[in-house]
Amino acid sequence: MMFTEEVLCRFRNPKNTGELKDYNGRGKSGDSECSDVIEMFVKFVDDKVVDAKFKVFGCPSAISITDVFIDIIKGLTIEEACNIDVFDLADALGGLPLEHMHCTKLPKNAFMKAVEEYRQNSREK
Ligand code: FES
Repeated sequence: MMFTEEVLCRFRNPKNTGELKDYNGRGKSGDSECSDVIEMFVKFVDDKVVDAKFKVFGCPSAISITDVFIDIIKGLTIEEACNIDVFDLADALGGLPLEHMHCTKLPKNAFMKAVEEYRQNSREK
């Protein structure tokens, strides 16, 4: 299976790349086998995701899957975002080649770390 048109489109023109200046949760996630890494910056207000951006060193799947993940989580509560099924992300891109299914874990793992940082900072205030 090759990359779908949606994967290639988001890979060429991701909407959510960059760094948020006013983030209050940040998380990094990587895969030791392929060395792909993403870093996610999230702005939470009252346990809701109001904005997010990401930086990436990775394959077309890692870029497109993270881009679509961020589109989906904007406006969701932390709990709703944590319940997103990574297979639904692949479906949103019209599918991924089997050898790239591991890429779907990166955005969710980075998001969970951003949630941890946000909660840690909230407790310390
Ligand atoms: S090839 Fe490893 S995250 Fe995409």
